[in-house]
Amino acid sequence: MSAPFIRCTRLEKTFGGKRVLRGLSLDVLTGETLVILGGSGSGKSVLLKHMNALLRPDAGTVEVDGEAIGALGENELRPVRRKVGMLFQQGALFDSLTVGDNVAYPLREHRLLPRADIPARVREALAMVDLAETEPLMPAELSGGMRKRAALARALVLEPRALLYDEPTTGLDPVVGARINHLIRDLQRRLGLTSVVVTHDLASAFFVADRIAFLHEGTIRFTGTPEEARAATDPRLHEFLTAA
Ligand SMILES: Nc1ncnc2c1ncn2[C@@H]1O[C@H](COP(=O)(O)OP(=O)(O)OP(=O)(O)O)[C@@H](O)[C@H]1O
Ligand SMILES: [Mg+2]
Repeated sequence: MSAPFIRCTRLEKTFGGKRVLRGLSLDVLTGETLVILGGSGSGKSVLLKHMNALLRPDAGTVEVDGEAIGALGENELRPVRRKVGMLFQQGALFDSLTVGDNVAYPLREHRLLPRADIPARVREALAMVDLAETEPLMPAELSGGMRKRAALARALVLEPRALLYDEPTTGLDPVVGARINHLIRDLQRRLGLTSVVVTHDLASAFFVADRIAFLHEGTIRFTGTPEEARAATDPRLHEFLTAA
């Protein structure tokens, strides 16, 4: 059994009177792909954003690689955000920059590499997501699936230890979605990445998951392997898995 790379303990988060996280605890083990399932508005994106301190809990703690990140300032968080990359639900490429400059952006921002070494690293990240030819293109020239992969290259360029994926296949056709799923698996195998994947897409969830966690009413109501999830008798999880 590997150690937890990300550990959430008794998290609470309320927005405008709405209790979104209600004492939620969840471990993400080193090297695993953990899928978080839950209804729309259940707090999946909110939970994911706590894992790299884009949001701070009202109570409870988040530890990354053994370090509590709750009290860290923005400067102290920079190395944490390098370790834990995020693929946003909306993709979030800069429309006015080429694909290559989008991918180079975090490297320039973090000043990690000598300038002369940036182009090679950008090409390597784009090749990893099978987008080697797109470097000079503008985001508007890409399909939805290519945009997702370009955003993934931008996250990978910092060589993170973990990646948080928010709805990586939503809005893509099944073939393109399957390609993203294979990529998630491939990156886990090749780079030993720890991954957290939030999705509505059950086929995708069962394809990529080592473990599944079910978020319901502000807590994690179930964790287990895909086989255990299929066999689970919890009525809410059962309903969720059979409704689609
Ligand atoms: N920054 C914020 N300010 C105020 N409320 C927020 C904020 N972020 C999320 N919420 C609220 O928290 C709740 C959970 O939102 P969240 O985006 O995590 O849902 P989700 O499970 O990701 O849903 P979906 O599957 O539709 O993406 C919602 O009621 C949302 O309105
Ligand atoms: Mg969401």
